[in-house]
Amino acid sequence: MLKLQAARSGLKGTIKVPGDKSISHRSIMFAAVAEGRTTIENFLYGVDCLSTIDCFRKMGVSIVQNGSSLAVDGKGWGGLQEPKSVLDAGNSGTTTRLMLGILAGRPFHSVIIGDDSIAKRPMNRVTKPLAMMGAEIDGRDHGNLTPLAIRGGALHAIDYKMPVESAQVKSAILLAGLQAEGVTKVHELQETRDHTERMIRRFGGEIHTSGGTAEVEGGQTLHGTVVNVPGDISSAAFFIAAACIVPGSELVFPGVGLNPTRTGIIEVLQKMGADIEILEDRAGGQFEPKGTIAVKYGALAGTEIGGSLIPRLIDEIPVIALLATQAQGKTIIKDAGELKVKETNRIDTVVNELKKLGANIEATEDGMIIEGPVPLTGGTADSHGDHRIGMMLAVASLISRGPIYLENEGAINVSYPGFFDSLKSIMH
Ligand code: S3P
Repeated sequence: MLKLQAARSGLKGTIKVPGDKSISHRSIMFAAVAEGRTTIENFLYGVDCLSTIDCFRKMGVSIVQNGSSLAVDGKGWGGLQEPKSVLDAGNSGTTTRLMLGILAGRPFHSVIIGDDSIAKRPMNRVTKPLAMMGAEIDGRDHGNLTPLAIRGGALHAIDYKMPVESAQVKSAILLAGLQAEGVTKVHELQETRDHTERMIRRFGGEIHTSGGTAEVEGGQTLHGTVVNVPGDISSAAFFIAAACIVPGSELVFPGVGLNPTRTGIIEVLQKMGADIEILEDRAGGQFEPKGTIAVKYGALAGTEIGGSLIPRLIDEIPVIALLATQAQGKTIIKDAGELKVKETNRIDTVVNELKKLGANIEATEDGMIIEGPVPLTGGTADSHGDHRIGMMLAVASLISRGPIYLENEGAINVSYPGFFDSLKSIMH
């Protein structure tokens, strides 16, 4: 348990947030199945990405830290070895689901397990399309829940309309599609993060994308490259929010990823009236856009969030809910039923934890309704083992009237080791 106290004055300074989690996972996975060496700069050494490293080492891939970068000696698709022990994805949905896409095409047996949270998260959204492509996957609840046993092999292409808006599902199918016979097509109704598509191109592969459809031809060889991981906008979001609600704050975030499939948070903050400026780096040759975000404290107004915006800010909803408690008027978040199957049921954990602190917030079937502004009290709060809930509550403590005693704060290491050091560096 950690005692957290309100900021005595405005937050000031510059924060270089750690590397993007989604891109770090993919950089290891693509490097592992590519031929030759990949050098990864600004890799996120968070617990989730360390799980991905561990899994690929068990399949014989050499991954070593080399100064500030990470060197991966790719084995090519055919060089991955059958793991002699279970692959442990820990808390990471991205590790579990994307790795399933790779394993589906490998002619060996493997077993994926994870922690108590992973054991509750639906995997049939991935195992079903992979089974349609020819993979044999079984697990609890008819192949829906970990532990999952996979026997991969020859795959054939599918033409698949995604029933959920999920970049993890899209990515797993594309990774399997790269190994399948024929052209695999994935259609999404709303655009989700496109890091996998960009990675395929970065590693010399071909992919066609247009109007919500991605197409890959099987049998592609990928080649090792250099990957420079941008700062994680989902991690920056917590301190951006902190600057918006602590009077007198002024914070700058250089090197943050500005991929348009991830910048929904910026649009929402602009709609709420936040004082936020974006300066995109114009240097050529970047496979992921990035730039500097500058934020100052200012009054916020409630807003409505739904539809195609949701996948572009899905991981930021906990901290948006906190912002809404301090905004003038009503904020309605809808079309976000996917929150129920994240590391925790994030509709329940956000609503219950913020209610404990005095917020006026109610859960709905597919989101939440928040009325502000309401001063937050202190008390005990719990991350429930969910990194983003932990960070949201730590930010809440900056404006709470009494101290917040945060339980299970260790979960924050999943995506932002050093979070409390960053926090300390901007408190004066
Ligand atoms: C991720 C996709 C999102 C996101 C998760 C990371 C990814 O999940 O919430 O934190 O790296 O592809 P879904 O694909 O389940 O929406």
